[in-house]
Amino acid sequence: MKDLIRDRKTHFAVLLFFGLMQLLLGLARQLGVIPESPSLLALLYFGVMIPTLLIAVHASATSTRSTRGPTHRRNPFQITLLMILLLLTGTQIYWGVFTSLLDAGHVYNTFPSMYGQWIPPELWVIDPLHRNFFENLVTIQWMHRLFALLILLTVLMLWVHTFLMKQRPLIIVHLVVFLLTVTLLSYTAGAFTLIYHVPAFLTLLHQISAQLMITGIGLLLGVHYSGWIEEQAQS
Ligand code: HEM
Repeated sequence: MKDLIRDRKTHFAVLLFFGLMQLLLGLARQLGVIPESPSLLALLYFGVMIPTLLIAVHASATSTRSTRGPTHRRNPFQITLLMILLLLTGTQIYWGVFTSLLDAGHVYNTFPSMYGQWIPPELWVIDPLHRNFFENLVTIQWMHRLFALLILLTVLMLWVHTFLMKQRPLIIVHLVVFLLTVTLLSYTAGAFTLIYHVPAFLTLLHQISAQLMITGIGLLLGVHYSGWIEEQAQS
């Protein structure tokens, strides 16, 4: 038991360390210390988020495995949703870097519609088409909105499914509620970042909430992973 508490404290400290790194990264960007290069910035963001994901998986896998709770019920649907969510969030963070670097948050500052339009006319104006994804501010902002909506719908589906299935162990329910909360925070912070023309505080909040989303996804994946290990051991 002592070992378990010590492990939990260590995991918490490491997750906190990476959270602080993300905050420092945001502050350094606000101060203009980091060169405005998409590949460098994506590397720095993922350099903090990938270890966060792995530590979160390890933390919850080890701590739920050593706790004797109600038996884990195998749930392929939920694991699939989590993998889709991870893919969507990773892409969203990458697009967030473009949104930020190209100042795409300074065009179309209304939410949820873009000056009353759901599909703005400038979406595909650059030829060839694929260049719009990296050079057209409107397309970049529109894609960021679209992925945010897909992420929100996926998390809502996960939440509904968890409650309908009375998912056990209870830690899964708590983690899904945590994930829904930080996703709503990220979504709302993103919307207000646009409406108020990218203020520093909201930008930081938006970035930190993305870090918390990755932590939540990692913790949930870890619980499922430990359940899978338990199943393998029993069969
Ligand atoms: C819910 C999922 C979302 C995630 C995970 C996410 C993630 C990110 C990330 C990582 C950045 C880069 C942060 C930076 O370097 O400043 C970013 C930027 C941005 N996001 Fe989001 N975002 C989400 C939803 C939204 C929504 C719903 C909106 C508004 C419609 C939005 C608007 C923005 C804007 C305007 C920026 C650029 C901020 C700047 O110029 O620094 N985001 N997002």
